[in-house]
Amino acid sequence: MSSALFLNNIVKIFEKGTVNEKTALDHLELLVPAGEFVTVLGSNGSGKSTMFNIILGNIFPDEGSVILGEQNITKMKDYKRAYDIGCLFQNPLRGTAPNLTLEENLALAYTRKASRSFFALNRQDSRYFRETLSHLGMGLEDRMKTKMGLLSGGQRQAASLIMATIAEPELLLLDEHTAALDPAAAEQVMELTKRIVEEKKITTLMVTHDMDLALEYGTRTILLDRGKIRMDLSGSKRAEMTPGKLAEVFYSRTRRGRENPSGD
Ligand SMILES: Nc1ncnc2c1ncn2[C@@H]1O[C@H](COP(=O)(O)OP(=O)(O)OP(=O)(O)O)[C@@H](O)[C@H]1O
Ligand SMILES: [Mg+2]
Repeated sequence: MSSALFLNNIVKIFEKGTVNEKTALDHLELLVPAGEFVTVLGSNGSGKSTMFNIILGNIFPDEGSVILGEQNITKMKDYKRAYDIGCLFQNPLRGTAPNLTLEENLALAYTRKASRSFFALNRQDSRYFRETLSHLGMGLEDRMKTKMGLLSGGQRQAASLIMATIAEPELLLLDEHTAALDPAAAEQVMELTKRIVEEKKITTLMVTHDMDLALEYGTRTILLDRGKIRMDLSGSKRAEMTPGKLAEVFYSRTRRGRENPSGD
């Protein structure tokens, strides 16, 4: 079941009281209704990964609260919320066991769900995984016995995406998960992302630096800068937006853009 996410007035200051003090999130407010797919833009250092780390419980905010569904998870330990939140990063090996086979990795991801539901155990077999993989068109079903670390970058990222969503999380966080892939693999993984998110109706936040992707996928686009949301686009305004116009908004509303309007 997917859940709404509410980031309520989040403040995160790194190295407080030192010369390196940095306000990464500055009273950030964001409400994402259950099932919504939001794309997240923002220049380097704008606070995107910090926002994800706070949602995941890797770090804790100085102020504010994180609400997932009905639950206030602000102080919940990271491993406890890991059942409910799937995540994927740029590095295709993060979160997987490279020396285990694809099948073993899938079984591990699936067992997490099984621990919450006895019924799931009965379906935990190669055939089920093979079927799950067969309609992806990435040749993964023939590579069940291959070690995860030996798959191509695109295949690994596709497999990681399946692992992150096989337990049907309430929330999915994608941090530039196709940025390290070649264009063809990136497109396949994006299409797979869209299919899984739409099929399972998972509440999703996807960070990207690509204006085309930001508009092509999902139903809402936000722009983060200096730890705050500077643009929140959905509905007809988003439908009328073009990647070119979006780049203009990006450069006019971000510090980096104002300092360096040519973008280089
Ligand atoms: N652990 C940390 N200690 C100190 N400063 C940090 C830490 N993590 C992040 N920061 C700082 O907080 C700010 C936000 O960083 P963050 O990683 O969230 O940016 P980002 O939007 O994900 O950038 P990118 O597009 O480069 O991934 C940056 O100025 C960064 O240097
Ligand atoms: Mg980042």
